[in-house]
Amino acid sequence: MEWFEIGHIDDIPLRGARCVMTPQGKIAIFRTADNEVHAIEDMCPHKKGPLSQGIVHDASVTCPLHNWVISLETGQARGADEGSVKTFPLRVENGMIFMLLGEEALVAAE
Ligand code: FES
Repeated sequence: MEWFEIGHIDDIPLRGARCVMTPQGKIAIFRTADNEVHAIEDMCPHKKGPLSQGIVHDASVTCPLHNWVISLETGQARGADEGSVKTFPLRVENGMIFMLLGEEALVAAE
């Protein structure tokens, strides 16, 4: 496993997301209103909706397709809905965001 630099926190709008393409698939990096960042798969556990286009509130995102609420911290669906997405460790140094990934390099950033 290796830490990859994926961009500056200011590249992500507050309560927004940016995606990076990796060998593990498309990963969405979210920034909460509290300036925390979280990385999860950009694929809703319900019917694969693009979570990066959802609404961020607290440490959760609401899927734009059918309103499932996914925890950005655990990747688990909240409430009565069952399912989860993978989460990926992040760290922030001087505003730069690093993500822990397998040894394959990032493919591209969106
Ligand atoms: S695809 Fe996300 S709630 Fe249905």
